[in-house]
Formats: sequence, structure tokens, C-alpha cells
Amino acid sequence: MLIGLKCRNCGQRYPIEPLNTCEECFGPLEVEYDYDAIQERVSREKIEKGPNTIWRYADFLPVTGRIIDLGAGFTPLQRADNLGSILGLDELYIKNDSVNPTFSFKDRVVSVSISKALEFGFDTVGCASTGNLASSVAAHAAKANMNCYIFVPADLNVAKITQALVYNPHLIGVEGNYDEVNRLCTEVSGYYDWAFVNINLRAYYAEGSKTLGYEVAEQLGWEAPDRVVVPAASGSLLTKVWRGFKEFERFGLIDEVNTKVTAAQAEGCSPITTAFRTGEPVKPVRPNTIEKSLAIGNPADGFYAVKVIKESGGTAGSATDAELIEGIKLLARTEGIFTETAGGVVVATLKKLVEAGEIDSDERTVIYITGNGLKTQDVLAEYLPSPIKIKPDLEAFNTQAKPEQKEVA
Ligand SMILES: Cc1ncc(COP(=O)(O)O)c(C=O)c1O
Ligand SMILES: [Zn+2]
Repeated sequence: MLIGLKCRNCGQRYPIEPLNTCEECFGPLEVEYDYDAIQERVSREKIEKGPNTIWRYADFLPVTGRIIDLGAGFTPLQRADNLGSILGLDELYIKNDSVNPTFSFKDRVVSVSISKALEFGFDTVGCASTGNLASSVAAHAAKANMNCYIFVPADLNVAKITQALVYNPHLIGVEGNYDEVNRLCTEVSGYYDWAFVNINLRAYYAEGSKTLGYEVAEQLGWEAPDRVVVPAASGSLLTKVWRGFKEFERFGLIDEVNTKVTAAQAEGCSPITTAFRTGEPVKPVRPNTIEKSLAIGNPADGFYAVKVIKESGGTAGSATDAELIEGIKLLARTEGIFTETAGGVVVATLKKLVEAGEIDSDERTVIYITGNGLKTQDVLAEYLPSPIKIKPDLEAFNTQAKPEQKEVA
């Protein structure tokens, strides 16, 4: 159902190839589909009969050949009444994407892009990663039996490095921030005939994030929510959640979409939020935050993310390092979900926007929790109490642990 690639800036069209940017204007490329042909094939019933992975939406994805599927997607949409009542929201849901095969939403974009790399005949894949993409690419490359080169900033969270290494890729720690890693990868991808999922396959890769729009609409009983809060790094995920809703609307799978798309960033790296708030163009920044997964100072899709936020009537906010740590703890103790720093940013930003009156209590709101807490335990350890150590007897428990109970409703 794929027709080709199209420049998002000047509209120039290209065939279905691994292409980085528009040759005319250096603008970003996006895939184009034959929407009439898709319309004839899709229905709610057909989707509901599909697998419990992103591949239930295969008709909307740019892959035709063999699929590398570790089971990404169709993650729980959890009603969050405990957190909602603390924040003052009547109908809050958590899209818990921290339970994907490699524990972040990146498995969606990687399952699509590595399948596409195979289709193009590549034997080697790679990526520039802020941390989560690394493990996902390494895992899917292992399953696909491909060579794999992963480039990350050298100062990444320990658990993210361990997790990536176990899948046995070539892992290169670059002494620099993500934007420098990305620049290096663009050079490497011009030198070697390799598939870099978020560089020369980016147009295909990004499409995987649409499934986070489709799934939420399907799980809400074929309806888009009033509000989504989405963590933003390059800004791609945010634009694709919106595109997912709009495509479902176009195909008549859901009614009119009135979803206010809202971005969440760490205050120490918030170029998208700042651009939205000031009305000025997106200006690159040098990240300064413990939140590394969203630490992209020069966001490739920043311009388009701001456009979607404005078009949808949404807003954007940010959270300090202290606030995001509180956000992680609040989510865990109210909803039983342990998220990484990006999820802390989302919860903290939601809290601030509700308090500021920018999100109303009666809005049906979905927040995207996109990564697992086990990946960034290092930043949390100093903010949690140590366990009480006792001798193994009842007397010690009664005197030293001093049992106390909260009232249970
Ligand atoms: C956990 C997590 N959430 C959200 C994002 C944002 O992704 P995007 O670059 O599409 O804005 C990232 C990016 O790396 C991430 O790791
Ligand atoms: Zn162009």
C-alpha cells in the first residue's frame, strides 16, 4: 500500500528507497500510502482479529516482506483512578508501554524499520541512540541475524548499556552528547552501506509510532481521547500519535478527532516546549538533565511537533530533575507502575499543567509511559529509603521495624 517517499518541506517525491533527506531542500522525508487501497481493506473487525502486537495494524505500516516480531505493542491501557484522584482528573488512563519486549516503546519503531531493512536487502543495521533505541535495535538485529552497530553517548545509564550489550551488538560509546552521536552516525551511514534505522530508514521507522495512536483509540472503544500527554525528544512520537488518530478518523474507524496533543520535556532539555511557549522557532540547546532518554538538544521533528501541538489545541510543559524523580515515585506508589526518567517527566508535567489550569478535570486524558524503571535505577537510588535490617526474630521485627499500617478503604 506504500507509494513512495515525499519531502515534508517541499513536496518532492522519491521512490521507495533508503533515503535520508530531500535532495532538493534537505527537508525530512515521510512515507506516502495509497489511502484508497487501504480504505478497501480495513475494518474494525479485521483489526480486532489480528495478532496482539503492532502487526494487527499491518495495513497501515510500510512493510511488505518478512516481519521481525518480538511481540512489540498491544500493551495495557490502564485506568488510573488513584493517580487521577490525587491530581484532580476524573478520567485518567496510562498507556503502559514500559512492558514491551525490550521495555520501551522503541520496539514499535524498530520492529518496523528492521523488517524494512531486510526487505531492502541490508545485512547490517545501526542507530544513534539516547539509550532505549540501543537495546531495541540490538535485540531485533539478533533475531534477524544481522550485524549491528550501536552508537550511544558514553555517559549513558549503566543498566541501559548492560541491557544493550547482552544482545551482542558492536556498541560504541561516543564521548559527546546525542546530537554529536547523531552527526557521527550520519557520516558513518554515508560511508558504509548500512541501514541506520533513525537516519536513512527514518521515514519508515517513524511510522511505527503511529501504532501508539491506533492502540489507544481501539482500547478506548474506538474513540480518541480528549487529551494525550506525550514525552518528546526528537518530537517524532508526538507527531505520529496525532497522525495515528487522524488516519483512523480518515478511514472512518473513529469519529472526529478533537485530541489536544501535549508535549512533556525535561526542563534541562526542552527546545520543543520553549518554542511552543515563546512562539519562536525551535532553537537547539545543550542538554543539562539526569533525563537522558529525552536529551535531544536539536530535535529533528521539533518544527512539526510544535505545529501538531498548535493545530490540535494542545500545550507543552516541562519538569525539573527533582520533579521528575517525584513523578516516578508518585506513579509507582499510586498505580503500581515503575517507569524510567521519561515517564517521570510525563507524570510531573501532567501534574503541573493540571495545577496551572491548562488541563481540565473532566478531560478524558491518556498519558504515555514509554520506558521501564529498571533501566534508570541509578538516578533513583539516593531518593529512596534503605530497607530496615533486622535479626531473624519476632522481637527484632516488633521493636526495630515498628509495624504501622495505613487505613485501607
Ligand atoms: C522512553 C522514551 N520516551 C519517549 C521518547 C521520545 O521519542 P521521540 O524522539 O520520537 O520524540 C524517547 C526517545 O528516545 C524515549 O527513549
Ligand atoms: Zn524537499
